[in-house]
Amino acid sequence: MSIKITEAVFCASSTTVEQRVAPFLPELAFIGRSNVGKSSLINMLCNNSKLAHTSSKPGKTTLINHFKINNSWYLVDLPGYGYAKLPKKERERLSKMIFEYINNSKELLNLFVLLDSRHDIQQIDLNFINMLGEAGVPFSIIYTKADKQGVNALAKQIEKNNTALKEYWEELPPTFVSSSQTRQGKEDILKHIENLLKHIKP
Ligand code: GTP
Ligand code: MG
Repeated sequence: MSIKITEAVFCASSTTVEQRVAPFLPELAFIGRSNVGKSSLINMLCNNSKLAHTSSKPGKTTLINHFKINNSWYLVDLPGYGYAKLPKKERERLSKMIFEYINNSKELLNLFVLLDSRHDIQQIDLNFINMLGEAGVPFSIIYTKADKQGVNALAKQIEKNNTALKEYWEELPPTFVSSSQTRQGKEDILKHIENLLKHIKP
């Protein structure tokens, strides 16, 4: 059995690391292209469909949102990157906000990079992941929306994406497959979070 989320409360929204409110606790953040399912996944992990705001239209989350879990750590919902329909200025503003947070939060324990399990990994995802490598930010990959296709197609797509990642990476990061609809992946992701929290140096 993995860790149990018994309490999940929205704490605050911010646009910079400076703006975050105390207490400062370990953070596990979710990033990925707009509409990939970041907010839905947080809700699924917390068993609360109303916790993080979701939308069928991309560009819903525009701030850094902290959700305090079991009064001891945070799940952090970030805006998506690469939404082509946003005005360039707004896209740049969001991108700056994301990078500032990722590079400056000392509490950030792990970043979950979400990829849509139906699609080829895109250059923008590869660039983002490679940037994490250069910045030394620990990350894992979560494939989302697994309910939208059969197991064979899913396995094929992941294999294809792994091949693309191996062009840059010798070793692949921990990888999970999820569905916010069927709750697939919940136990594995929570178990991973539990292990990450266990290994924090005092
Ligand atoms: P932004 O905040 O705009 O960056 O998007 P997001 O990554 O937070 O995506 P969000 O969770 O708002 O979900 C986008 C859309 O995908 C919504 O219509 C969700 O209902 C749908 N969705 C998310 N996860 C899943 C999933 O696992 N399965 C299915 N079928 N739909 C999903
Ligand atoms: Mg969102």
